[in-house]
Amino acid sequence: MAAALPAPGVDAVALRASYLLEAGPVGSMPPPPTLRGMAGTAMKALAGKKMHVLLDRIAERAAFERTGVRLYDMMLQKVAVAPALPAGMTIEGVREIRDEEHSHYLMLAAAIETPGGDPTAMTPCADVTGVQGTGLVQAMGEPRLTIAQALSTLLAAEVIDNASWELLIDLANRFGQDELAAQLTGALAAEQRHEATVRQWMATALAEESGV
Ligand SMILES: [Fe+2]
Repeated sequence: MAAALPAPGVDAVALRASYLLEAGPVGSMPPPPTLRGMAGTAMKALAGKKMHVLLDRIAERAAFERTGVRLYDMMLQKVAVAPALPAGMTIEGVREIRDEEHSHYLMLAAAIETPGGDPTAMTPCADVTGVQGTGLVQAMGEPRLTIAQALSTLLAAEVIDNASWELLIDLANRFGQDELAAQLTGALAAEQRHEATVRQWMATALAEESGV
């Protein structure tokens, strides 16, 4: 929520500090609608562990992957009408990454549903990453962006994505979720390819743009 402008004579820094001190958390985790996936050995294995922390972070990645699909959909539109592309960059290559981001979302949605979570529910970390992503979507929606500028927007998303997948894998391992960690590791391999590919396209675009 936007804070009101401080009145004349009010110390804006002190006002901001008071907001920081008084602020509560960004929402709370919605309760699972069912405990069907938490029965038996899985429930015992998770006893004493704060499962909502893992679910919140899975939901965070799912939200970011949705943003990723939107970003690559916008790039596809841009590439389709671009008079020229950097050498090596193709619309098929962009679509391949877009489809992998979508498959990652579907995998994460299933991971949320398995222990009884709702993949459509907004969790605190999904909320925060959604707000962060609005800047990337806004930038990509600017028609005047060059291909190189659009690629730098995608690169920002991919760098965040790679670090976040690594952290999520570490968390899943700490929860003893071996099967989930294996699925996440497969997605990380794809994300590493995305980052390398986008970085390469961008390097070529910069070389062509600068003539060096
Ligand atoms: Fe990616």
